[in-house]
Amino acid sequence: MTKIAVLVGSLSKNSINKKLANALESVAPEGVEFTTVDVDLPLYNYDFDGAYPEGPALLKQQIDEADGVLFVTPEYNRSFSGVMKNAIDWGSRPWGKSSFNGKPAAIAGASIGDLGTSQAQQALRNVLLFLNMQVMGQPEAYLNINKVLNEDGTIAQGSVDFLTEYIAAVAAHVEKNKA
Ligand SMILES: Cc1cc2nc3c(=O)[nH]c(=O)nc-3n(C[C@H](O)[C@H](O)[C@H](O)COP(=O)(O)O)c2cc1C
Repeated sequence: MTKIAVLVGSLSKNSINKKLANALESVAPEGVEFTTVDVDLPLYNYDFDGAYPEGPALLKQQIDEADGVLFVTPEYNRSFSGVMKNAIDWGSRPWGKSSFNGKPAAIAGASIGDLGTSQAQQALRNVLLFLNMQVMGQPEAYLNINKVLNEDGTIAQGSVDFLTEYIAAVAAHVEKNKA
């Protein structure tokens, strides 16, 4: 069993990145278990380092228990979202107890245009490398949601193979590099 924690950097009810995460899970290989991490958290503040609130404590536990992490990020103003950064800040602390250290990671994202979150993903990659995660280099998934998913959230016919191959590569990366 390969356990993958999924962080989607959006709180929006109609988040296209939540839809993308669901679509990826729907075509994952057998033997992969996904845990969606709740990122609706208070803003990180190191005054909490001695006693994490319930939500951030659960986030850390879910990441600790996972073999790897899939980050599905929107692009906000040419970077990844503040929601994603806040979740990462919680998971990275207290100092010396980062839940991300050494874990395999992969990044995907969807936007409403053809740039497909490429700048957000590059910015996020910098952060994950700093956190000593083993970030998958290829394949990359910069997606225009209008091309990849149908209105009802199912995968457009022309994208089934790509998403299936992408999530299989993520699972293989996590399996190969897990502790
Ligand atoms: C504050 C804000 C900034 C945005 N900046 C970008 C951007 O830099 N690049 C981009 O491709 N889309 C940008 N968008 C459009 C998003 O791709 C679009 O809103 C998308 O639905 C966000 O993903 P989500 O639905 O998962 O939250 C922006 C949207 C918002 C609300």
